[in-house]
Amino acid sequence: MERKIKDSKVLVTGGAGFIGSNLCEALLQQNNQVVCLDNFMTGHRHNIEPFLSNPNFTLVEGDIRNYEDCQKAVVGCDYVLHQAALGSVPRSIKDPMTSTDVNIGGFVKMLHAAAEAKVKRFVYAASSSTYGDSKALPKVEHKIGNALSPYAITKYVDELYAKNFSDLYGIETIGLRYFNVFGRRQDPNGAYAAVIPLFVKKLMAHESPVINGDGTYSRDFTYIENVIQANQLAAITPTDFIREKAKLYNKKHSCDLCNSWTENSGVLSDVFNVAYGQRTDLNELTQTLKVNLSKFDPEIVKVEILNGPNRAGDIPHSLASIEKGKMLLGYEPEYSIKRGLEEATEWYWESL
Ligand SMILES: NC(=O)c1ccc[n+]([C@@H]2O[C@H](COP(=O)([O-])OP(=O)(O)OC[C@H]3O[C@@H](n4cnc5c(N)ncnc54)[C@H](O)[C@@H]3O)[C@@H](O)[C@H]2O)c1
Repeated sequence: MERKIKDSKVLVTGGAGFIGSNLCEALLQQNNQVVCLDNFMTGHRHNIEPFLSNPNFTLVEGDIRNYEDCQKAVVGCDYVLHQAALGSVPRSIKDPMTSTDVNIGGFVKMLHAAAEAKVKRFVYAASSSTYGDSKALPKVEHKIGNALSPYAITKYVDELYAKNFSDLYGIETIGLRYFNVFGRRQDPNGAYAAVIPLFVKKLMAHESPVINGDGTYSRDFTYIENVIQANQLAAITPTDFIREKAKLYNKKHSCDLCNSWTENSGVLSDVFNVAYGQRTDLNELTQTLKVNLSKFDPEIVKVEILNGPNRAGDIPHSLASIEKGKMLLGYEPEYSIKRGLEEATEWYWESL
């Protein structure tokens, strides 16, 4: 069975961002035509600079909150990999209106335009934040808790819309609940930078990173290569294959909530965890970053690590079950956190 998207036309929304630009790069290497829709709100032109001269790459500078921009970008596309959104839990707590506007309003516009354009499948970035206050570990897709932030709510509402649109308009949808993705081109700057690029940048400058809390909180850190694989499998795994495997999965879990299709019209619509399936606490993570960066600059090993208060909206632990993705999509993450951190730190050392 094919595992990569080839010879197709693919719209990557948020294609100038961290995950989106990595998807664009992989798709171009596989002989696809790639359309990138981005308004550069948090993404950067330098992320897509190398692709601009590629005749298979088209940049549509526009906003997913503008329906005409969505329609223009999706023309003739086989698949949509929808990444555009305002990430970050703290950002959404500070400004819930803009996050809601982009993450729900923009999502619905893009989904509607994709349905209207009759794309083969709409794959979108969902989030592990949807598990909210659920203490269960590992997280399985059909058991979620109460949302802890406006961001988490937006991502869950997107899942509800996706299923509803599959039902109403027949568009196949797959949501990928990403767990703390990291890797090349993740932005280390700004108030809402993610922990890995932020700490790498601090360590490289011999400044002390500040861990929120005592460092025992843990996350299922996921390297970008695994996310690229999951997106491709989510787009092209045949519907019948997913259906057959879903029956086995549902039976095993005695679960009628984890169907892969909508109840009324029977169209494919599902969500999957995208992670490595291993958790690392913040103390361990910071130590590994120090050791990796010390290969380039031995002084870094002496940089002191500080601890601050816990952050609002943060859950103590996060760990994914990736069994569903493995079974229904053939997802096999190839990059462990160790290997991913080695590649990522090397990239930051050469690029920052
Ligand atoms: N990075 C993670 O760990 C993680 C975890 C869970 C979910 N996600 C989701 O994955 C997706 C990609 O995240 P990322 O880490 O690459 O973030 P990013 O900020 O690097 O990329 C998001 C991109 O979307 C663009 N964008 C934002 N608003 C837009 C709008 N209104 N119209 C058009 N483009 C717009 C930004 O300019 C940016 O290029 C997001 O949907 C995010 O919520 C990321």
